[in-house]
Amino acid sequence: MSAPESMPVLQVRDLTIDYPGRGGLTRAVDGVSFALGAGRVLGVVGESGSGKSSIGMAAMGLTEASHAVIGGEMKFAGTDLAKLKGQGWRSLRGERVSMVFQDAMATLNPVLRVGDQIADMFRYHRPQMSRKARRAAVLDLLEQVGIRDADKRIDNYPHELSGGMRQRIVIAAAIALEPELLIADEPTTALDVTVQAQILDLMQDLIREREMAMLFISHDLDVVGDICDDVVVMRHGKIVEAGRVDDVLIRPRHPYTQELLAARPQFRTAEVAAVQSGGSHA
Ligand SMILES: Nc1ncnc2c1ncn2[C@@H]1O[C@H](COP(=O)(O)OP(=O)(O)OP(=O)(O)O)[C@@H](O)[C@H]1O
Ligand SMILES: [Mg+2]
Repeated sequence: MSAPESMPVLQVRDLTIDYPGRGGLTRAVDGVSFALGAGRVLGVVGESGSGKSSIGMAAMGLTEASHAVIGGEMKFAGTDLAKLKGQGWRSLRGERVSMVFQDAMATLNPVLRVGDQIADMFRYHRPQMSRKARRAAVLDLLEQVGIRDADKRIDNYPHELSGGMRQRIVIAAAIALEPELLIADEPTTALDVTVQAQILDLMQDLIREREMAMLFISHDLDVVGDICDDVVVMRHGKIVEAGRVDDVLIRPRHPYTQELLAARPQFRTAEVAAVQSGGSHA
């Protein structure tokens, strides 16, 4: 069942995340609030260590292993995530919320065929599905994520595929059960620029077709400008600026956002300027 249209897919209020360390708890996320509506894409940007991934991990219930202490409120389609226990998380994760990480090689199991790894989503969450139906669904997904010769690729191992193809496999597994929310944590950072653009195009298409919401974690403001509707800018665990992506990136108000924008690699800024003025970027 999906949430009523007015209800945010992810609502975060005054979120705090503390990690235990040698000298006691260290605050990684410090009073963060935002709402992500159905079908919208929210960018989370900020320097390394600002707390971006911690938010994504908390929304997936993956901070337990690090004994993080979570305060404030996180609601997924109205469900209070703090109240979920093991089984509750297992039926939410993958099914209604999934996450794509930077490193596909670390996400995929090297000794399993990629098709079987996608099929695992169905095996676990749709146990009634027949083997044949599963294979058909996986082939369908491979095509949706732009993998050619899907009937051959389905039996490949991760190392037999390129980095871009591996990330497509990870995306296919993430969207297999048609989640309402996709959390993408630097999903293209490990890829070269051309492949990065192809993967971003794919993600944009999938989001639009499926009306999925996406939390898009990135340090690349140009990419965020391309793909996101709204953005929050984080520094030292706090949001320093938030708003529509066009407002924030074109008219940044906070000095830190201005700094981030100024620190962008020059060649990309020149490229964007050339495109905007109608010139070619040869
Ligand atoms: N499992 C953990 N245990 C202890 N401290 C952690 C853990 N994960 C993150 N931290 C700390 O929390 C802070 C925020 O980390 P986080 O990974 O959320 O930042 P980030 O914005 O995603 O950074 P990056 O851009 O480098 O990925 C950092 O100081 C980090 O060292
Ligand atoms: Mg991170």
